[in-house]
Amino acid sequence: MNIISNAIDALLACDKKKKQIIIQTSISNNETIEIKISDNGSGIPDEVKHKIFNPFFTTKPVGQGTGLGLSICYQIMEKHHGKISVSSQPRAGTEFLLSLPLKIGVGAAPVILK
Ligand SMILES: Nc1ncnc2c1ncn2[C@@H]1O[C@H](COP(=O)(O)OP(=O)(O)OP(=O)(O)O)[C@@H](O)[C@H]1O
Ligand SMILES: [Mg+2]
Repeated sequence: MNIISNAIDALLACDKKKKQIIIQTSISNNETIEIKISDNGSGIPDEVKHKIFNPFFTTKPVGQGTGLGLSICYQIMEKHHGKISVSSQPRAGTEFLLSLPLKIGVGAAPVILK
């Protein structure tokens, strides 16, 4: 939700005619789930890219962003033994890649659905 709401903010802030968010999911090597979320919004400037996962880092006006969205995403991915990365071309768009292991360790406890 945080990543999608950032994508929506980036699209609202740009003046492109065709605004789009693409979500792609795949399984790689039967081991890793990959989720790509991309937008063709404003993009992230290079000087800002390395700060976006820091808590309270925001480029949004006071009252609009707390700067916590991506730091929460980062922590959630860490807890699930996953990874989050970003690639972005300023003015062209941004893509977040989330990868999660299908199984954690050998003999991980099965999930029993009732
Ligand atoms: N899809 C995106 N396109 C352009 N910039 C982005 C995108 N996603 C994140 N950013 C940049 O990363 C910064 C940090 O994002 P984050 O979600 O952590 O905080 P926020 O959106 O500013 O505030 P919050 O999510 O707490 O309301 C944003 O302020 C913005 O500059
Ligand atoms: Mg956000």
